[in-house]
Formats: sequence, C-alpha cells, structure tokens
Amino acid sequence: MKILVTGGTGYIGSHTVVELQHQGIEVVIIDNLSNSHAGVVDRITEISGVRPEFHQIELIDREKTNVFFAGHPDLDGIIHFAAHKAVGESMAEPLMYYRNNLDSLINVLQGMKDFGIRNLVFSSSCTVYGQPDELPVKETSPIKEAWSPYGNTKQMSEQIIRFAVEAYGLKNIALRYFNPIGSHDSGLIGELPLGVPNNLVPFITQTAVGLRQSLNVYGSDYNTSDGTAVRDYIHVVDIAKAHVVAVNRMIGNKGKSDFEIFNLGTGNGFSVLEVINSFEKVSGKSLNYKIVGRRPGDVEKVWADTSFANQELGWKAEKSLDEMMRSAWKWEQALAGRK
Ligand code: WQD
Repeated sequence: MKILVTGGTGYIGSHTVVELQHQGIEVVIIDNLSNSHAGVVDRITEISGVRPEFHQIELIDREKTNVFFAGHPDLDGIIHFAAHKAVGESMAEPLMYYRNNLDSLINVLQGMKDFGIRNLVFSSSCTVYGQPDELPVKETSPIKEAWSPYGNTKQMSEQIIRFAVEAYGLKNIALRYFNPIGSHDSGLIGELPLGVPNNLVPFITQTAVGLRQSLNVYGSDYNTSDGTAVRDYIHVVDIAKAHVVAVNRMIGNKGKSDFEIFNLGTGNGFSVLEVINSFEKVSGKSLNYKIVGRRPGDVEKVWADTSFANQELGWKAEKSLDEMMRSAWKWEQALAGRK
C-alpha cells in the first residue's frame, strides 16, 4: 500500500508517517516546510529504518501539485495534514488561513479526481464545534458558528470534501483532533514550533527550558473548576495510530459510508492550570507563569465523546496527561541538547 502524507514533516504528520511505516505501508511526503524542517525526514528514517520519499511542494500551486500527481499514478490514498493550524494566529491573519488551507485542499481533491485516487483521510479539528452547548461533544453535535478562521477553514473543508465525495465517487474519513500534545518516545520527533509557540504545551516546555521568560495563562474567569479554559489533550502518537486504523478501514472497504467523521480525543478535559500542575509534577520544575486576559478566539471548554471512534474504529487513546507532559518535556530537553 502506498500513501501520500501531505504535511508529513509536521508535528502530527511526522508521527503518523512513523506509524504507517511500522505497519509496512510505503509513504510519500509532500511538505512546503513552512512550519517544519527537511531534517525531520532524517529523523523519521532513524526511527523506522525506512526513508520516505519527500517532495517540497506548495500545494496551493495547482500546476506543481498536478505535476506531482501525474508522476505518482500508484497512490492508494492520501492523508491530508498540510494546513496552518493556530487558532490565535488565524484571528490576526484570516485571509492567509482561508487561502492556504482551502486552496491546498482543493488542489489535492483535484488531483484525486484527475488521477483516480479514491481514498482521503482528512485532518479536521474539534474547533469545528465552536463552543458546544453540550459536553462531551459528539460527532453528531451541531456544528456551530466558528470562533476562529482556523476552525472555519476546517468546517468549510469538511463541506467541500463532502460534495467532492458525492460528485466524484471518492471516500473520506475526517478525523476531528482535540488537542494533540507530547512526542515520540525516541525523543527524535516532536512539536517544532518555528518562532514563538502559539500552543500551550510547547510554550510551557520552552519556558521551563529557559527559552521563554514566562508563560501567559489566557484567562482565569471562565466557568470552570479553577477559572482557566479546559481542553481534551491527547498524545500525538495516539492520534497517529488512529490514522493507520482509518487508512486500513477505508482501503479495506470496511467503512459504513463514503464520508465518515470521528472524534479523536481522550474524553477527559483538563484546565490550563491542571496541565501546568502535571508538568511541574513530572518535570520537578516550578513553572514561571502569570494570569492575563482571555485570548480572542478561545472557547471556554471542550472535550470529546470518544465512544463512536472506540466502537467503530476499535481505537482508544492510551496515554495519560502525565505521560503526555513527560514526553513533551523529554523532547524539549532533547532539542536543547542538540543546540
Ligand atoms: C490551549 C489552551 C489557551 C497558549 C489547538 C490547536 C488547533 C486544534 C485545537 C487540532 C487554551 C491556553 C495557550 C498560551 C495559554 N487542534 N493557552 N497560554 O487553541 O485549543 O487549539 O487545539 O486541530 O489546531 O491549535 O490550543 O494550545 O493554543 O490552547 O493559556 O501561551 O491553553 O487559551 O485555553 P487550542 P492551544
């Protein structure tokens, strides 16, 4: 089986490539390296012993994307990660998010249509739910008005895919991630935010290792146990394993329909302060942080109902918050050691 992974040198992409290779699946990576490094291909090879084919291509360039597909007639499916993905950043740069995330998806779908590739696993997000009325949130929960351009691009992408599946006879599984954190236990791949991290966990570990002065905790006046916002944090390797299950389900024709959606979470919500406490416990470090105002675009609390993925995919997240924070800290220390 040969699978194209777009965004394959990125955080979730690289961990998924490793899990696909562990299953003996041949992988081709496309990445524009806008938020990752080509060296990740070497790290993946170190872990799995197999070097994935790698192409640095701008998927928003229709001509270059078309040339790639013309040269790869033997692809069995695609996992499409390539997108910008920071909620806060998207509030400041909505047009960049719409153009990048939608144009790249449309060019991938065009390639599938033109070159007869039927199977797509799409990297979606819990941000499609906005602030759910009921928690835990199910795949059938209403899609509410997006709270950020990032979440809106994921909502629009799912709709674009739905109509493309119907019109062109494709098959899709959309995986709605909650908050992926942590890193591979080898310490060779992990979250590599370029510049100042948007996400909580890399900001915590960069503060602890001395790269950042102090962590800002965005808001302590939410209606939660300790006033800070709640998210469903899930280990990136658990997320990666779900992609292998999804690819096998689709290519093995085990799906119940041509367009399936699954939540990828743990079913547990943790507040920002609980994540900080977990980090301090597993690292033995006291974190320097201060409480500031809310961040525009943030929802108050969201965590997943995982029963559908557990039952249908036979997949369940395994790692605890402490294990996730321990692996995130191990990765940050490995990065510091490489300098
Ligand atoms: C988490 C919490 C912040 C930084 C992410 C991904 C997005 C999607 C959903 C997959 C929030 C708080 C953060 C900081 C803080 N995943 N925070 N100080 O916004 O939930 O979105 O998960 O598609 O792609 O980005 O994650 O880590 O930015 O924020 O207090 O310096 O941590 O307010 O409550 P978010 P995040």
